This record gives sequence, C-alpha cells and structure tokens, in this order.
Amino acid sequence: MDKQFNDLASMRRNYDLEAFDLTQANENPFIQFKKWFEVAIKSGKIYEPNAMTVASVDENGLPSARIVLLKEIWEAGFVFYTNYDSRKGREILSGKGVSLLFYWDQLHRQVRIEGTAEKISREKSEKYFQSRPKTSQIGAWGSAQSQPVSRKDLEARKNELEEQYKDTDVLPCPPNWGGFLVKPTRFEFWQGRPSRLHDRITYELSPSDGTSDWIVGRLAP
Ligand SMILES: Cc1cc2nc3c(=O)[nH]c(=O)nc-3n(C[C@H](O)[C@H](O)[C@H](O)COP(=O)(O)O)c2cc1C
Repeated sequence: MDKQFNDLASMRRNYDLEAFDLTQANENPFIQFKKWFEVAIKSGKIYEPNAMTVASVDENGLPSARIVLLKEIWEAGFVFYTNYDSRKGREILSGKGVSLLFYWDQLHRQVRIEGTAEKISREKSEKYFQSRPKTSQIGAWGSAQSQPVSRKDLEARKNELEEQYKDTDVLPCPPNWGGFLVKPTRFEFWQGRPSRLHDRITYELSPSDGTSDWIVGRLAP
C-alpha cells in the first residue's frame, strides 16, 4: 500500500458523546429529525448541517450518490433543488426511489432516510429560484448539469448570460430546474457509542393500511 497511508488501518475514533434509546425517540420521525437537525445547526460546529447525500439508481440498478443541500422540510418530506435533466434528475424521475444521508461527524450522528421522490409544483420551484442570488440563477441557466463541458465554454456562457440579463434583477426559472420532494418510508437515527455498540433507532411506515403510523425499532449496530 501507499506508504503515506500506512496508518489508515489504525485511524479510528471513539464515540462517547451521548446515548439515544427508544425512550428518547419521538414517535414521529419528522419531529425527531428536526430535533437533531436543530442541535446540528445550533452546535455551530458543522459548516453545512443541511448538506446531505442523495443516492439514486439508474435503469440497470447501478447506484450513484452526491451531496445536495436540504432547503425545506415539509410535512410530507424533504425538499432539495436541482436540474431535472442531470444524472440524478433523470434517475430520480425514473421512479426507482432515493435515499438521503446526513452525517454530522462532530455530533457522532448519522441519519438515513429512504423513500420516493417527486417534482414539486412549478410555482414553488419558481418562487425558490427567484429567492436565489442572481449569480446562482445565472449558474443554473449556464450549466447543462452532468453534461461534458470545457471550463472555457462554461465561462463564456456565464459572460453571455450576464450580458443578456444585465438590466434584470431576477431571472426566470429554467424549465428543467426545480425542487424534488423526498417522501420518506424509512428513517434511521444512528448515535455513535463506545465499544462500537452504537444506537440505531429505526422508523418504518406501516404498510398498506393508509394511515401514517410509524413503527419504531432498534437494530444491532
Ligand atoms: C456541499 C455541496 C452542496 C451541493 N448542493 C447541490 C444542490 O443543492 N443541488 C445540486 O443540484 N447540486 C448540488 N451540489 C453538486 C452535486 O453534488 C453534484 O455535483 C451535481 O448535482 C451533479 O450531480 P449528478 O451529475 O449526479 O446529477 C452540491 C455539492 C456540494 C459538495
């Protein structure tokens, strides 16, 4: 192995901040998520507590993952914004389901969420798009996300758009850009514990009865 990384096998941390057990877990996973999310934000230790990994699957079942920013929490789920024609956009729209992952390492916490995803309304996407800084709006128009491009062409397109919209404060929302709502069917809250005996509290949406009851459980670490 590369000498520089000789000590990789011995790199490990102890997790000893706190416990998380069934008696502490709120019966509603959204409330539980918001509690942990608030702690992550208020800790001031995490640069982007709303950064989450989104994993999607292509038509052959091959998974891919990338970070996006959580922008809204609705009663029905979690919202992020992207280009619908991007790799993730196309994979998500194929309807195979998605997973979200938060890792707040300074808190020794991980949250896993699985579910389905759908486009949010055009009106809501436009409203959010128009709240973004103009530079981000130009970026969205200038980037055919996930397509091959040269740095030169990217910069040229940006300059072109800056010129085109120089007298405009707010750009229209590109038709292929907008929000996805991830509707969870499963959550898992992981709290690191000493001796690798971590706490894993899960929530599963009870199947087929049409109500939104969550079944809470614990898994071996
Ligand atoms: C911290 C961070 C935040 C990001 N936020 C977003 C985001 O909100 N939306 C987005 O489309 N891409 C975001 N990206 C870029 C994605 O990780 C990814 O490069 C891009 O969406 C293209 O992914 P795809 O080709 O798999 O579709 C972010 C990247 C990082 C590191």
